Amino acid sequence: MTEIISEEFVKRFGGEPLIVRSPGRINLIGEHTDYNAGFVMPAAINKYIAFALAPGKDNYRFFSQDLQEEYTIVPNKIKPDPKYPWVNYLLGVIAEYNKRGVEIPPFDCVFGGNIPIGAGLSSSAALECGLAYGLAGLFNIEIKDEELILLAQGAEHHYAGVMCGIMDQFACVYGKQGHVVKLDCRSMEYDYFPLSMDDYQLVLFDTGVKHSLAGSEYNTRREECEEGVRIIARGDKHIKSLRDCTLDMLENVAHNMKKTVYDRCHYVIEENLRVERAAEKLKAKEISAVGELMYASHNGLRGEYEVSCPELDLLVELTLSESGVIGSRMMGGGFGGCTINIVEKSQVEAVVSRISKGYNSKFNCTPQAHVVSLEEGVKIISKP
Ligand code: GLA
Repeated sequence: MTEIISEEFVKRFGGEPLIVRSPGRINLIGEHTDYNAGFVMPAAINKYIAFALAPGKDNYRFFSQDLQEEYTIVPNKIKPDPKYPWVNYLLGVIAEYNKRGVEIPPFDCVFGGNIPIGAGLSSSAALECGLAYGLAGLFNIEIKDEELILLAQGAEHHYAGVMCGIMDQFACVYGKQGHVVKLDCRSMEYDYFPLSMDDYQLVLFDTGVKHSLAGSEYNTRREECEEGVRIIARGDKHIKSLRDCTLDMLENVAHNMKKTVYDRCHYVIEENLRVERAAEKLKAKEISAVGELMYASHNGLRGEYEVSCPELDLLVELTLSESGVIGSRMMGGGFGGCTINIVEKSQVEAVVSRISKGYNSKFNCTPQAHVVSLEEGVKIISKP
């Protein structure tokens, strides 16, 4: 893939580019907990966006290999462009560098990859982190990984309009082969856990749908959680986020809360506990216990957090009669995208075939299945 991008660059712009590879991510468990200062357990995967970058003349010139679209903009005219949604993730990165007092000289960029878009595998974080990392390499900008992650997140907030947490950008930068990373989104402390997959494989089933609710409902969930925190904090000023709350604290104020707000908070508090438990179970190599936690996570996301959809629910439900599936749940923001499944290696083919059939008979389309492995984070592959 990097060869195709590099060749396209030479054909289109000429010269010898710097090449960056930026991965998508999965999340084993810990959903909608990152913006609640809680725990997540993501990993970078073997699906990437590749970038070819070189200094340019007067403008920023971008070419999307997948969409076959070019976009040119004068450096001091940067602002979000609603007509080209893909370019906003990239312009957002430049704008965030500018905010930090770093002027980005003109450059040329070709990019493309194999992360399915809208599937919940964070192609957007891969775009943001890939360009941010690549520009740092190209123009010798000194930036720490933690700052680069915040910069990429800023691009998503201000140029894509999604008030995302830190998980996706973190996983893209800190991915480690064969490992998931448990991140404390409050302290930013993290620990790697080997996901021993001798007998299992991670399989994603893509519903193929992205409901229009995704963006607006995401921001609403954030606000509902904040409302919950405000109510719980009336009794204890030290409480700053749902991470600081226990189930008991929530019960004590339940009568003062709308049922929806209670449900959202209840889910988040329990999900944080599940991530901690999953870490213990991974350490003890009790993979089937991790699988049970994944099913519990899905139940909460469906019933209490209400970010699932019939397509995701069916994919999870179909695994219940599959003895080869250890765990299954919806993954990412929700309202479409993928489920993540731990499947016994010897059963993968049969499971994929039966689940595809079951899904097809209800929704009249075959879900794409992706077998993924856990890989290194964003990387410069070659520098001229
Ligand atoms: C999206 C966001 C992440 C996270 C997940 C839900 O992927 O970008 O920050 O909130 O949804 O866990």
